[in-house]
Amino acid sequence: MKPQPQNLPPTVPTDWIGGHFRSFRKAPTEFLTKMSKFGDVSTFRIGKIPVFLVNHPDLIRDLLVTNHSKFIKGRALQRAKTLLGEGLLTSEKEFHLRQRRMIQPVFHRQRIAEYAKTMIEFGEKMSNEWQNGDERDIDKEMMSLTLWIVGKTLFSANVEDDTDEIGQAMTTIVSAFNFLLLPFSEYLEKLPLPPLKKLRNARNKLDEVIYGIIDERRRSGEEKGDLLSMLLMAQDEETGGAMTDKQVRDECLTLFLAGHETTANALTWTFYLLSQNAEAERKFHQELDEVLGDKQITPEDFPRLKFTEQILAESMRLFPPAWTVGRLATEEHEFNGFKIPPKSLVLASQYVMHRDARFWENAESFQPERWEKLSAKEAGNKFIYFPFSKGVRNCVGENFAWMEGVLLLAILGRKWKLNLAPEQKIVLQPMITLRSKHGMKMKVEKR
Ligand code: HEM
Repeated sequence: MKPQPQNLPPTVPTDWIGGHFRSFRKAPTEFLTKMSKFGDVSTFRIGKIPVFLVNHPDLIRDLLVTNHSKFIKGRALQRAKTLLGEGLLTSEKEFHLRQRRMIQPVFHRQRIAEYAKTMIEFGEKMSNEWQNGDERDIDKEMMSLTLWIVGKTLFSANVEDDTDEIGQAMTTIVSAFNFLLLPFSEYLEKLPLPPLKKLRNARNKLDEVIYGIIDERRRSGEEKGDLLSMLLMAQDEETGGAMTDKQVRDECLTLFLAGHETTANALTWTFYLLSQNAEAERKFHQELDEVLGDKQITPEDFPRLKFTEQILAESMRLFPPAWTVGRLATEEHEFNGFKIPPKSLVLASQYVMHRDARFWENAESFQPERWEKLSAKEAGNKFIYFPFSKGVRNCVGENFAWMEGVLLLAILGRKWKLNLAPEQKIVLQPMITLRSKHGMKMKVEKR
């Protein structure tokens, strides 16, 4: 029987206080998976906020594409404005559209082929630093590697020297998200609590680095053809005015954050999955030997590394770095006959949909070969696979990320086999991205 609009979708009993906040926060991916079993639309509460999980491809299309204009970014990204200001990830409507039009050309295919040279240079630098028998935290290594790359390609900045400091500041900021999501965090934020002091220091550190880069470029007046040069030259169509330092800072910080943590995460999980799947790892190494042999890797190798790309697609299916997208309803909407009131939070979870047995055969197992029959694009068009989200707010860096992911896997994989350290515990830590709670210690073995 079709549910009546006034009916609430299925739910579970609330915790003692805060609605379902504690259960959700303790293990968000498990909680959402559990909710999804009740139906294509389910509901729960975080504090006083009504939350709806939609878990059917048609409903996800409805949310992200057909009726996207009824929604704005969810609470996590609203709260992220404290850190990111009005950058591409957090801004809305006309302002967002204008910024997006300005930034999009930076990610054209032609330019990405240029950036690929930097990806290769830094990938090889890291590969050359590794020694046979090293035990390395691959999570940290990938974080540094992708940070160097985004710094160099987009801002021509040498963040290698500052990586530890920047990396730590980024990690603090990312961990602060848990705090920012607490009910009442808007008010708590103003109190002199020690974790908040750490957060403010981290934000100041990043601002120092970024304003330093902006300042240097404005003074030298040099045109380097990178994102920073484009942002500094960009003019408002209506007023003819240039961006303020604060606007440039917001876009830079957004790209620094959005452009490294996600890709690093995808690479870490991919090396983990390869270490657990001997046959896939053997085929991966075989492809690298056949395609690359002893020659220098070039950006032109990217389309030839087919199996490597399938491995990455499969890794982002099982461990999508962006594990859920959230949207806040600005007006009433109906999903499957259920009325969603304004100010509700609507979630679509990549983690849950990518493992939904209704749409994926052997959903829980790592099978890169499944991508021979179905490309990532086709799965995306069916809305059963959306690691980069969909619609007008999809990832502007998607092509950059595929190129970077495949090239770095190939550069590191052609020389090294990574084995999971025996004591390494695997526990998911879904924050902004789906991180591994205890890092990812792996032994580096020469191939
Ligand atoms: C595996 C790597 C990546 C994944 C999984 C990923 C995923 C995503 C997702 C899911 C969104 C939408 C978020 C939402 O709607 O709430 C997004 C947006 C965005 N991503 Fe990525 N991303 C990746 C790499 C990158 C890279 C390399 C860059 C830049 C160099 C980047 C820059 C951005 C920006 C600026 C946005 C906001 C776009 C807008 O709203 O107009 N991302 N990304």
